[in-house]
Amino acid sequence: MSLAKRRILLGVSGGIAAYKSCELVRRLRDLDADVRVVMTESATHFLSPTTFQALSGQSVRVSLWDAQAEAAMGHIELARWAERILIAPASADILARLAHGLADDLLTTLCLASAAPLYVAPAMNQQMWAHAATRANIETLRQRGVGLLGPASGDQACGDVGSGRMLEAHELRDAMAASFGDGSLAGLNVVVSAGPTYEDIDPVRFIGNRSSGRMGFAVAQAAALAGANVTLVAGPVSLPTPAGVARRIDVRSAAQMHVAVLDASALADIYIGAAAVGDYRPNYVSAHKLKKRDGAGLSLQLSENPDILTSLSAKPVHPFLVGFAAETHDVANYAQHKLRNKGLDMIAANQVGEGLGFEADDNALSVYWADGAIELPRAAKPELARQLITQIAQCYRASRAG
Ligand code: C5P
Repeated sequence: MSLAKRRILLGVSGGIAAYKSCELVRRLRDLDADVRVVMTESATHFLSPTTFQALSGQSVRVSLWDAQAEAAMGHIELARWAERILIAPASADILARLAHGLADDLLTTLCLASAAPLYVAPAMNQQMWAHAATRANIETLRQRGVGLLGPASGDQACGDVGSGRMLEAHELRDAMAASFGDGSLAGLNVVVSAGPTYEDIDPVRFIGNRSSGRMGFAVAQAAALAGANVTLVAGPVSLPTPAGVARRIDVRSAAQMHVAVLDASALADIYIGAAAVGDYRPNYVSAHKLKKRDGAGLSLQLSENPDILTSLSAKPVHPFLVGFAAETHDVANYAQHKLRNKGLDMIAANQVGEGLGFEADDNALSVYWADGAIELPRAAKPELARQLITQIAQCYRASRAG
């Protein structure tokens, strides 16, 4: 991983997580990035500009009205200089100001004046993060193409526990490196499906499953980190689009996912089917809410959904195909059977239950391909996804070389 000569403008807004940004400057400079720090006025109540000046080796700017600094490098020049703008920590306040396009200080002015991709790493109290105003601002920024890095969940400086912790310095550094698109999948188009599907029964009921989408989203992010141009086809989940993912298509049913994946895969090099696609759908979707009929049972007639992976492998020209197999028992046997049956190049199998797999933070995978296998032991999903992508890249290159 390298960020040699990459020009990163690090915006630091007012929050206690600013202490982690000191480490971030170090980590970015480890990869030889050229880092310039701009602080908001509030940030200076947590840390002194001198700290960042010492760490970045560059003067730090705070005010738009500093005549001497403007003479050295004007704010428009600084906006043009940046190849990436990363705001870490991004407080609720700066997210609101960005969402509304304000330019009431140097940092927000730079964001408006720069064509560089903007990334934000939110950090705030979990209640502030959950507030409807913040949710709306985040949605606005996301739709505008701003990369959302985190936040993570866990203990907070204020004593609360919940979502709103800034990502760690190494995670932000990796996201910056990924945003420049170098890595083992550089130049490849990768489609990833993730999450469950919902098969409607009537306007208020559906058949779904317990997939959280987190493994698939982590895989999409890891593929982007590895330099791929990623299209993420997501079932109904409420997860933010991972930074670096080029395109997200939201779907609900297996049939919609089938259409979206086949369409997106037409020009793809690799398809990774991490979604838990519903195998059956009701034959008939009632236009009105079904009424309870006391004493009488209810039977639903179901028909089988087409298998997305099998449809792709049946095509004369198709991407390198990676499937997932979530099993409750006899994992190896079922996975290898699916590898052959569905005409896959690789399959990643996991046991569900006991803090692993669906709805869990951790996972463990056994990965099989025609003439090999690897065990990826229990780890947090983002780390596991990174290891899986490394393996996929290796097998993909081997298959194309042979
Ligand atoms: O057969 P099973 O559903 O267990 O296989 C899981 C794998 O097959 C996953 O990769 C899933 O994304 C894929 N799948 C699919 N289309 C379906 C059902 C599953 O591509 N209709």
